[in-house]
Amino acid sequence: MKPAKKVFIVGGDLTTFIGKGHPDFIWKRHPDFGTRENPTLEDLTVQAIQGALEKTGVSADQIQRGYIGNFAGELFSNQGHMGALAVRADEKLNGTPFIRVEGACASGGLAIVGAIESLQAGLDVVMAAGSEVQTTVSAREGAGFLARASHWETEREIDDFTFPAMFARRAKIYKEAFDVTDADIAPVVVKAYSNGNKNPYAHMRTVNVDLEKASTAGDKNPQFLKNEDLREHLKVTDCSQVSDGGAAIILATEEGLKKLGKTPEECIEITSYGVATSALGKVEDYTELGTTKKAAAEAYADAGIKADDVQVCEVHDCFSITEVLMYEALGFAEKGKGTELAKAGETGITGKFPVNTGGGLIAFGHPVGATGVKQALEVFRQMKGECGDYQIPTTPAVGVTANMGGDDRTSVVITYKNLG
Ligand code: CAA
Repeated sequence: MKPAKKVFIVGGDLTTFIGKGHPDFIWKRHPDFGTRENPTLEDLTVQAIQGALEKTGVSADQIQRGYIGNFAGELFSNQGHMGALAVRADEKLNGTPFIRVEGACASGGLAIVGAIESLQAGLDVVMAAGSEVQTTVSAREGAGFLARASHWETEREIDDFTFPAMFARRAKIYKEAFDVTDADIAPVVVKAYSNGNKNPYAHMRTVNVDLEKASTAGDKNPQFLKNEDLREHLKVTDCSQVSDGGAAIILATEEGLKKLGKTPEECIEITSYGVATSALGKVEDYTELGTTKKAAAEAYADAGIKADDVQVCEVHDCFSITEVLMYEALGFAEKGKGTELAKAGETGITGKFPVNTGGGLIAFGHPVGATGVKQALEVFRQMKGECGDYQIPTTPAVGVTANMGGDDRTSVVITYKNLG
C-alpha cells in the first residue's frame, strides 16, 4: 500500500533490551539478586511510551490513538488488556483509544500498520508501541509459550524448543539444497554480535562471538534441540534472544506535523507498506520466505524502489538462517546466494546493504511485541544520525524493515524515506 495521505515518523524511544547475558539482568548469581527486580511488562511499556513523548516533545493529549504490539502478556506476565495497560503511561492518555495488536513476532509491525491506516481514516497524530517480557520462566517453558505462534496441533511436537527447531528445519533444507555449511552462515552471527557490541541498548552488548565460535558447536555453544534430525542444524549462537523490552514511535500526517510544530525534514516518511499472511503450518518452500517476499514485492512496487536503492535495513533475524533468507526475500541476493553477501561484508555497517546495524534480534535482542516497532525506530535513528558507534557513515536516504510472525506466516515490510 502507498499511503494516500503522507505519513511521517516524528520520532520515538525504546528501553534497553535485557535478559540472560545482559549485565543488568537480575538472576540468581547477580550481585543485586534479592535486592532488585527486573523491569515488569508494565515498567517497559510505560518507559517506552513516556520516552517517546519526551524525546519528540509531543504532549500525551496530542495523541489521538495508540496501537500496542504484544504477543503473550497473558502467558509470561499474567497480563492481557495491553491497550489499557499502555494508557497508564500518562494520565493525559486516559480516555484515548489504545488498541492491542497481535500477530506473533510481527505484532509490532502490525501496530505500525494500524497506526498508518488510522491516519488514512482521518486522524493526524497516532502512537505505535510494542512491548514484551519473556524472562519470567525458563527458556524451555517460554519456548512452549512462543510455540503458540506455530500451528499448535501439528507443529508443537517437533521439539520443546518449537521455533528453534522449525528454523533448524529450514537451515537443514537450505544447506542441503545450496551446498551451504555452518561456516558459511557464521558471518551473519559475527556481524550481529559485533554490531550489538557497539549498541548501548543491546541485550548482548557485552558478549563477543567470533567466527570460530559461531561456526562450531561445543560445550560453550551447544546444539540444544532434542529432535535428532534437526539437532545438528542449530547452535545457541544461531538464535535470537529471550529478551524483555519496549519501543514506541509517534506517527503523523502533514496536518499532524503542523499541529505538532514539526517539519517533514525533521521526520522520516513511510513511503509504502506490504502485509501478507499465509496459512499456519503450510509452508510451501522451506528454502525461501514466500510470505515476506510477497510483502516486500508490494512495498517496493508501491514505493517505486528496488532492492538496490535500499541504504539501511532491519530484518527479522530470529535465527541466523532467517537473516540469510531475508536477504533473498528482499532481493539483496539471489536464491541460494544469501550467505555470500554476509561473507563479503556487504551487509555490515559500511557495506552496500547495511542490515541490522544495532545487532538485530540475535544480539540487540527480541522482545517479541516490541521488535517491529524497534525496527522502524532504528531506521529513523540511522537516518537522523543518532546511532553513535554504529552509525552508518553516509546518512541513509532509503530504508526498509521486514518484521515476521511465526514461520514466515505474517509479514510486514515497510519502506522509508529520509527527507532531512
Ligand atoms: N550441552 C547440551 N545441551 C545444553 C547445554 C550443553 N552444554 N547447555 C544447555 N543445553 C540445553 C539444555 O537442555 C537447556 O534446557 P534445560 O535447561 O531446560 O534442560 C537448553 O539447552 C537451553 O539452555 P538454557 O536454558 O541455559 O539456555 P539459555 O537460557 O541460554 O537460552 C536459547 C538459549 C535456548 C537459545 C534461548 O535464547 C532461545 O530460546 N532463543 C530463541 C528464542 C525464540 O525462539 N524466539 C522466537 C523466535 S521465532 C520468531 O521470531 C517468530 C515468532 O512469531 C515466534
